[in-house]
Amino acid sequence: MTILSGTARLAGITGWPVSHSRSPRLHGFWLERYGIDGAYLPLPIEPTNFPAAVKGLMLSGFRGINVTIPHKVAAFAICDTVDESAHRAGAVNTMVFDNGRITGSNTDGWGFLENLRAQGGDPAAGPALLLGAGGSTRAIAAVLLNLDVQVTVANRTRSKAEALAHELPGLKIIDWDRRSDALPDHALLVNTTSLGMAKQPPLEIDLDRAASTLTVSDIVYVPLETPLLAAARARNLRCVEGLGMLLYQAVPGFRSWFGVDPVVDEDLRRFVAADLLA
Ligand code: ATR
Repeated sequence: MTILSGTARLAGITGWPVSHSRSPRLHGFWLERYGIDGAYLPLPIEPTNFPAAVKGLMLSGFRGINVTIPHKVAAFAICDTVDESAHRAGAVNTMVFDNGRITGSNTDGWGFLENLRAQGGDPAAGPALLLGAGGSTRAIAAVLLNLDVQVTVANRTRSKAEALAHELPGLKIIDWDRRSDALPDHALLVNTTSLGMAKQPPLEIDLDRAASTLTVSDIVYVPLETPLLAAARARNLRCVEGLGMLLYQAVPGFRSWFGVDPVVDEDLRRFVAADLLA
């Protein structure tokens, strides 16, 4: 058990619900590893209470919070300042409180890139094909476009992809049914849909049409190896599993709130993954 002092640093994750979140476990691992006098708490907050609750946390001395579903867009609206990453993502997942002011950022895209690089991928290797059109798709598309990568999105509901293209100039859209046809022209495939998640149907895409240099990335991490990644591995394609994005997106917040630059390594991955398998 950790015993806190009267000057302990406090942070946490707000969501509704928040019970499924692995962030307390992840930050708790780092707090213990670095012997920090601090705590990172699960903070279930109903959507209607979100602005008042965040203000209350700030007034209670919290250093800041992570924000997850369904609050990421509401969080953007109540920040005093938002950085470029939040602007491009249209959502905030990390808040830092400082002298009564809230600064918001979005570390999902950065987390995606760091994870991709850590697993040997090169985001700038060539055009990227993103499947999906939700908040994660936008964050990932934004960082890739920022690197001048050509990004194409396919989503079952085309209108959602078109709305995304409206927010992110330069984004290309293709029909969901064309995803396999488009594969040979891409160096990176990213699944940002919920397909392949435990209890969901697998993603169907014909990896036999891919170049041998294709990198396949999935943001789903339950299971750790999705049917998509298993199929990619069977074809000797480079695979990037989704758990790492969760681990890396946590780094900037931890650094801001607790004053230590935390390391993502295999011990951390194993510790968080053990809970997914439980
Ligand atoms: P979000 O609110 O983040 O979009 P979601 O409703 O769980 O979350 O869906 C995530 C993504 O998975 C969406 O892009 C969704 O496609 P739609 O926009 O058409 O709903 C996609 N998705 C979920 N189930 C799917 C399925 N059976 N086939 C194709 N895409 C699917």
